[in-house]
Amino acid sequence: MRIDVVTLFPELVAAVTQQGVTGRACERGLVDVVCWNPRDYAHDRHRTVDDRPYGGGPGMVMKVEPLRSAIRAAREAGEGSGSVLYLSPQGRRLNQDGARELADRRRLILVCGRYEGIDERLLESDIDEEWSIGDYVLSGGELAAMVMVDTVTRLLPGALGHAESAAQDSFMEGLLDYPHYTRPEEIDGRRVPEVLLGGNHRAVEVWRRKQALGRTWLRRPELLERLDLDDESRRLLNE
Ligand code: ADE
Repeated sequence: MRIDVVTLFPELVAAVTQQGVTGRACERGLVDVVCWNPRDYAHDRHRTVDDRPYGGGPGMVMKVEPLRSAIRAAREAGEGSGSVLYLSPQGRRLNQDGARELADRRRLILVCGRYEGIDERLLESDIDEEWSIGDYVLSGGELAAMVMVDTVTRLLPGALGHAESAAQDSFMEGLLDYPHYTRPEEIDGRRVPEVLLGGNHRAVEVWRRKQALGRTWLRRPELLERLDLDDESRRLLNE
């Protein structure tokens, strides 16, 4: 998969290509992350990328031309057209289903805004979709793009080792994760639940599933409403 990121801060986005699961995926060629800086496409003396908003008000707005040139350069550089996604709080909220949808695409072009945002006409002419990572306001789209690169890359076949894939199964079913423990067996008087020490794999599986269901029920009940629980989960709830 190829992910182009149009950003005024490529050094920020580069971090995700250098560390951890995403870093390894880049190294192994599962995903190719390429940054494009709109400032490189601003041709005036000061390489201006923003300007004052028509109608007045605070802050600055990103200008059409440099951003458009950077997006078009990105489009033309790789194979296939790819979807152009603008990151903003006004967009479709990213969740695990959305991440799966995006991971199925061969190519993504992520556009990061700064300041008060980008000129609306660019949204109309050059952006295919608008995505948000949550109902809060970031200072720019970069962190959102990095979240997207991370969550999508983890889903690419071969990106996770065996242990990591197993750990992610839980949310893949639309449930919150179950609790995890490691050595020692007791710390500050708190013991690891007995069932995890017994070596009964079936009992461990039942306990974990119940914990995941219980936590989801207590913390995020709306997730259960949306869930088409499989027969196994329904049976285990009554076991
Ligand atoms: N840019 C600023 N805030 C954002 C958010 N919540 N999601 C995506 N992009 C953003």
